[in-house]
Amino acid sequence: MKGVVIYCSKYGSTRQYAEWIADELGFEVSPCNVKQNLEHKDLIIFGSWVMGNRLRAGSWLEKNWEELKKKKVIVFSTSGALPTAEFTEMVSSNSFSDEISKQIILFGFRGRMIFQRLSFTDKLMMKIGRIFVKDPEVKKNMLKDFDGVKKQSIKKLVDYVNNLS
Ligand SMILES: Cc1cc2nc3c(=O)[nH]c(=O)nc-3n(C[C@H](O)[C@H](O)[C@H](O)COP(=O)(O)O)c2cc1C
Repeated sequence: MKGVVIYCSKYGSTRQYAEWIADELGFEVSPCNVKQNLEHKDLIIFGSWVMGNRLRAGSWLEKNWEELKKKKVIVFSTSGALPTAEFTEMVSSNSFSDEISKQIILFGFRGRMIFQRLSFTDKLMMKIGRIFVKDPEVKKNMLKDFDGVKKQSIKKLVDYVNNLS
C-alpha cells in the first residue's frame, strides 16, 4: 500500500506526530501547503491541529475531496482537549460535510501548548475565547501550558493501517 502523511502544524506537535507515523509506516511526509501529487497514493493520512473546536486545516480535505474520495483517508487531530470519542466526533462534524465525516476515520491525539511561545494573535484569541467558556475547570486551564505529545499515542492509528493491508 502506497501512502503519504500530510499535515498542518503551527507550533510543531502535529508535525511531530506526522513524522512519527510516516516513519513507522515507511510513508512520505509533507506539510499541506506544499502541492501534492496524490495520483499514485492509495492511502492519505491527514493531520491538523484543532482551533475553535474544528480542524484548522479541514478545508484542505474539502478542497481535495474529489480526488481523495476514491482513496482511503485517515485523519488525525491534535488538541488541548482530551481526545475522547465525543470530542473527536464533534471535531469531525464541525470540520467536514456529512459525506466526508462518514467516509473518514478520525483519531484524536493530545497536542502541546506553551503559552509564552504563542504568537500575539493566538494569545489574544485564547484570552477572548476564554471569556465565552462557561465551565470553570476548562476556563482555568485554557491559558496553562500542557504537553501531551507522546509517541505511543500513534499506536492505534498505525495498527489500524497495518490491519488494512
Ligand atoms: C489559537 C488557538 C486555539 C486553540 N483552540 C483549541 C480548541 O478549540 N480546542 C482544543 O482542544 N485545543 C485548542 N488549541 C490547542 C491546539 O490544538 C494544540 O495546542 C495543538 O497541539 C497545536 O498544534 P501544533 O503544535 O501542531 O501547532 C488551540 C490553540 C491555539 C493556539
